[in-house]
Amino acid sequence: MTVVILNHSMIKHKITNIRKKETKTKDFYQNVNEIASLMAFEISKDFPLKDVEIETPICKTIQKELNCEVVIVPILRAGLGMVDGIRNIIPTASVGFIGLARDEETLKPKGYYTKLPDTVKEDNTIVLVVDPMLATGGSAVAAVDIIKKSGAKKICFASLVAAPIGIETLKNAHPDIDIYVAALDEKLNEKGYIVPGLGDCGDRLFGTK
Ligand code: PRP
Ligand code: URA
Repeated sequence: MTVVILNHSMIKHKITNIRKKETKTKDFYQNVNEIASLMAFEISKDFPLKDVEIETPICKTIQKELNCEVVIVPILRAGLGMVDGIRNIIPTASVGFIGLARDEETLKPKGYYTKLPDTVKEDNTIVLVVDPMLATGGSAVAAVDIIKKSGAKKICFASLVAAPIGIETLKNAHPDIDIYVAALDEKLNEKGYIVPGLGDCGDRLFGTK
């Protein structure tokens, strides 16, 4: 397993954009998708390839093609904000869904929806679970539990902003998965929000508060 904190000037710049409290829904959504694209570029850099013979207008040649299926699984709601950005980079990916909502008192996630494609269980499938916020880590652990029960063999998790406790919790529960994070923040506050963070990501993406 690896934990990768992405170190890229454009990612840092765009993360600053979404942290600003004055950033409105349209720009917030656009920046989240752009960061997700940059992350997908990095996450997919060692995806398996196979040789294929093709014909250019000039001659036959052996070239490389992706040799895996990719399933993107956003954790609803906020994970939806990353899907288009990842599909821009991996357009052949299929998309599954896991609905989880944190109880505001206990901070424990409650599941309300799961829809995964059958391909998650194939040996050559890479499942990319996405959620912009990794706070206590409870939602990420629950999502990976569900995906493993569906038979997935290779799982990566990507989030935009993480608290140290969230990374530790996910690592301890699922030491076999790779974790990619665009920004590692300081801590959680007493309400379980990431500090400095960006507030409630679902509300800011979908304009619900
Ligand atoms: C947020 C966020 C994560 C979760 C992270 O979702 O999108 O799924 O909290 O917190 P955790 O690491 O402590 O579990 P929320 O439950 O607010 O639902 P929403 O996306 O529908 O707003
Ligand atoms: N969920 C959010 O949307 N933001 C946080 O800071 C923590 C959990």
